[in-house]
Amino acid sequence: MSKILITGATGFIGSWLTRHFLRENYNIIAHGSSKESIGNLQKALKKKSVNLENIEFWDQNFMKQEWDYPSRISDIDAIIHTAAATRVRKGLSDNYDEYFKLNVVCPKILAKKALEINVKHFIHLSTGQIFGIADKYPITEMTPKNPINLYGSTKLIGEQVIASFGVLGLHYSIARPFSVFGHGHFNIISIITNKLLNSDILTIYGDGSQSRAFLHVLDFCQAIDKTESSL
Ligand SMILES: NC(=O)c1ccc[n+]([C@@H]2O[C@H](COP(=O)([O-])OP(=O)(O)OC[C@H]3O[C@@H](n4cnc5c(N)ncnc54)[C@H](OP(=O)(O)O)[C@@H]3O)[C@@H](O)[C@H]2O)c1
Repeated sequence: MSKILITGATGFIGSWLTRHFLRENYNIIAHGSSKESIGNLQKALKKKSVNLENIEFWDQNFMKQEWDYPSRISDIDAIIHTAAATRVRKGLSDNYDEYFKLNVVCPKILAKKALEINVKHFIHLSTGQIFGIADKYPITEMTPKNPINLYGSTKLIGEQVIASFGVLGLHYSIARPFSVFGHGHFNIISIITNKLLNSDILTIYGDGSQSRAFLHVLDFCQAIDKTESSL
């Protein structure tokens, strides 16, 4: 049975991936930044009656200089790296160190570890924000990458860090989701839905013609599953 380390398992996408792969009978190491967030994840999994036999937990703040890895880390077959500094608007010069450490240095440390312990597949979550504002839509893999915020910019460097380990033999995949939505995430979809449910007034900025590329988190989990099992 394959064993996967999911970093950021306490976050929105990571928690859905954790449930998905547990249901698919994988062994999981679920990571979160603290004992508290891991405790919340455990409670949420129990509430959803998820079988916890095949899961172990790893609390580690990636901002720390030294990391304590779980004892059986060398057994893992794949890493799905979702943990990151994710708030676009929080990415200001005051938070530069946090964004750089989490989105650039952390992938480096994990990719190095992955090579050391012969992980078969490193799946790295990047973001559509690396493209910035494109000249032409839809965005494709050939679209020039011009991030316009610290989040997109540090995630782009993070991708290049992972690719540099590819040169050393790491088998990796990079996913660039745009707006992932689903239960447990606060974004424009939940704002509009809640307002409609409560018959609140909807405020529309600009002329209302703005668009986003939305992807439901369950579809994203399927895509990652196909990527993981593509070896
Ligand atoms: N959601 C989207 O629409 C979207 C779109 C494009 C790309 N992505 C990418 O997908 C990934 C997951 O996004 P998300 O929306 O699920 O994010 P999220 O809900 O904000 O979760 C972030 C995760 O990172 C962990 N983390 C944050 N600071 C940490 C630290 N100092 N040490 C260790 N872990 C830390 C958090 O752990 P704790 O909760 O335990 O603190 C949490 O598990 C990210 O890489 C993001 O860039 C997301």
